[in-house]
Amino acid sequence: MARFSFLFACFMVILASTSLAKAQLQPYYYEKICPKALATIQKIVYEAVSQEPRMGASLLRLHFHDCFVNGCDGSVLLDDTPTFTGEKNAAPNQNSLRGFEVVDRIKDALISECKDNVVSCADILAVAARDSVVALGGPSYKVLLGRHDARTASQAAANNSIPTPTSNFTQLLSNFQAHGLSLRDLVVLSGGHTLGFSRCTSFRSRLYNETCTLETSLAVKLKSNCPINGGDNNLSPLDQTSHSFDTDYFEGLIQKKGLLHSDQELFKGDGSGADSLVKYYNSNPVAFWNDFGSSMIKMGEMGPLTGTQGEIRKNCRRIN
Ligand code: HEM
Ligand SMILES: *[C@@H]1O[C@H](CO)[C@@H](O)[C@H](O)[C@H]1NC(C)=O
Ligand SMILES: *[C@@H]1O[C@H](CO)[C@@H](O)[C@H](O)[C@H]1NC(C)=O
Ligand SMILES: *[C@@H]1O[C@H](CO)[C@@H](O)[C@H](O)[C@H]1NC(C)=O
Repeated sequence: MARFSFLFACFMVILASTSLAKAQLQPYYYEKICPKALATIQKIVYEAVSQEPRMGASLLRLHFHDCFVNGCDGSVLLDDTPTFTGEKNAAPNQNSLRGFEVVDRIKDALISECKDNVVSCADILAVAARDSVVALGGPSYKVLLGRHDARTASQAAANNSIPTPTSNFTQLLSNFQAHGLSLRDLVVLSGGHTLGFSRCTSFRSRLYNETCTLETSLAVKLKSNCPINGGDNNLSPLDQTSHSFDTDYFEGLIQKKGLLHSDQELFKGDGSGADSLVKYYNSNPVAFWNDFGSSMIKMGEMGPLTGTQGEIRKNCRRIN
């Protein structure tokens, strides 16, 4: 027991120190170095999202999974090789993260438009996440820029630092707090689940075990696409309007229609602080818009590499 607490304490210190590395990021970082950088990213994101709306969700999630593992440093984009283990096959990412080809296209276009390799992969993820949100009807906000890319990745950290869909409320909150984020950030950023889809395997145990907290007609519908055995990769939308950035995710939580166990943990009808925030964002779309932007900026400032740290990768899939 003592040994466990000690290891746990160490783990928390590591998480906390990444979130403490205070950012020196700026919104106009590329203005002089490559004036067309942001427009180039936006164009490719809009094209990708108009071809397949879900891509906006996938690109938003990539930035989250990058930032939550040792900071927003592009580590999530590194491919595994025979001598290098990256984060793509970590438990929360394997058979689940997508959008890597869009990031590759953006990288190539930037090298060509900027006539040089000056825009980091970590910054591409931050901007593509914002442009995706905007493309699907959500708020715009000024992305802070100037991150460098890591020369390392950590599968172990990816396994341990990203919250799981079976987490309870206490676990979700302590995970976010370990990343320097608050209850408000937890609730508003979970609103990212207004977009995109989940595989059956991520919510099956809720679907078949949590009959009291899962609305009946939704459960019937979900079971037809997510059988008790098989169909692990069958997709269901995270809210009822998964291609539009709206408050329907919060409305769904109030109606016991949260798809993931972790989603429904944010609203239990017990009058907790999380309950109040869910109700608040559901009835105040403008507050949701504003706070989502602020919390995305805050998440994007976690442990960036700047100055002489890291590098600007030529290919987001491998270190230079
Ligand atoms: C609060 C803790 C969170 C947990 C436990 C969680 C968990 C999950 C899970 C299990 C999936 C489905 C993956 C699959 O089955 O393949 C998912 C999808 C998604 N998550 Fe989260 N997530 C959390 C927070 C966030 C945050 C903070 C964001 C962004 C701000 C986000 C954005 C997304 C998006 C957009 C999708 C859909 C991706 C797609 O369709 O490709 N999530 N999440
Ligand atoms: C991470 O999780 C995956 C899948 O559960 C497992 O195969 C892998 O060994 C884990 N990696 C580390 C370094 O713990
Ligand atoms: C949340 O999960 C943890 C780990 O499984 C457990 O120790 C704790 O009792 C749970 N908390 C609540 C309030 O259910
Ligand atoms: C329901 O919960 C039990 C106990 O936690 C678990 O063993 C079982 O696999 C769950 N059912 C499904 C379909 O996941």
